[in-house]
Formats: sequence, structure tokens, C-alpha cells
Amino acid sequence: MMPNIRDYIRSIADFPHEGIIFRDVTTLFADARGFRMAIDQLLHPYAGIPIDKVVGLEARGFILGGALAHQLSTGFVPIRKKGKLPGAVISEAYQLEYGEAVMEVHDDALKPGERVLIVDDLLATGGTAEAGIKLCRRLGAEVIGCAFVIDLPELGGRAKLEQMQMPVHVLTSFEGA
Ligand code: PRP
Ligand code: MG
Repeated sequence: MMPNIRDYIRSIADFPHEGIIFRDVTTLFADARGFRMAIDQLLHPYAGIPIDKVVGLEARGFILGGALAHQLSTGFVPIRKKGKLPGAVISEAYQLEYGEAVMEVHDDALKPGERVLIVDDLLATGGTAEAGIKLCRRLGAEVIGCAFVIDLPELGGRAKLEQMQMPVHVLTSFEGA
């Protein structure tokens, strides 16, 4: 039988904390058929829809986003953790399990009206993606969707993004996150 995306994702117990099952996409990325399947399935809903830029969320969103941008023949824009981008940036804070973090984008990375697709490996609480959406919207871009390999629905990220009128595309979900 043809393998499923889930077959390529490794689950590691008690990482980074006891009681957490870490969903590891390095095994998906490392497999020739797995990686191609992920890129093809991430793009499937957007066939025939105009997209100007792919925006990837640091760090694993860069791996997917580069491949998606190449496939779509668009440019790629990184949203990075605070302090990494060399030019003038705009910033958005978001909540982590403990404390706060900040994501940044170059203030000239997107033009008003550009249609962007945001990509990351995993949707958990949705805080990272929400910060990414806000940064794109502040630059005047239209986020036409957010695509993820993995959704952890119990952590509420999908519901949060849908409340922001954001179409969400996920390839697979794990309950009991
Ligand atoms: C993980 C994952 C997503 C984010 C999802 O990244 O890759 O980007 O968390 O969590 P959220 O929906 O609750 O915001 P992480 O912050 O561990 O950083 P990394 O991708 O740079 O390893
Ligand atoms: Mg990440």
C-alpha cells in the first residue's frame, strides 16, 4: 500500500519534557518520497490560485517554504526569530509555554496587495502562525492561507487561525498532544 505522510513522521516520547510526544519531521524530510509527498500535498489546495510569495516561519518552515516557492515559481520570504534579520524589521510578540518570544520580518519584504502563503511544519497553539499572519497583514499583504504538515488540534491553533478568517491546510493531525 502507498505510504501515508504519518508513516514518515517519527514520534519521540518525553521530549523536550516528560509526558510530551515530540512529532519529529526530520525523518519525513530525509526520505525522498516522503519529502516530495509533503511538498505535493501542501500545494494541492492552491493549484490554479495566484500566489506572489511563500512566507516560511523559522526554522522548519524554511525547509518546506523553499521547496514550495521553487515549485510555485514565487519568491520566498523568511519570518525569523528576533535579532536574526539584518535590515529594518517589524516585530510581533507571541506567547510560548513559558514567557514570550518575538518574530520579525524585513519591513520591505512584502508589498501591499501581494498574495502570500504561510508555511510551517507544525500547528500547536497557533501563536507562531498568528504572529506570522499579523506581520504579513501589517505589510499590507493578503494571506491567502496557512499550510502545515502537522496539526495538534487539542492545542487550539487551528480554531485560533480560523477565528482570524484564515483558511488552514494541514496534512495530518495527532490527538493526545
Ligand atoms: C515549533 C514548530 C512551530 C511552532 C508551533 O517551533 O516548528 O513553528 O513551534 O507552535 P505554536 O503553534 O504553539 O506556536 P519552535 O518554536 O520549536 O522553533 P523551531 O521551528 O525554530 O525549532
Ligand atoms: Mg517552528
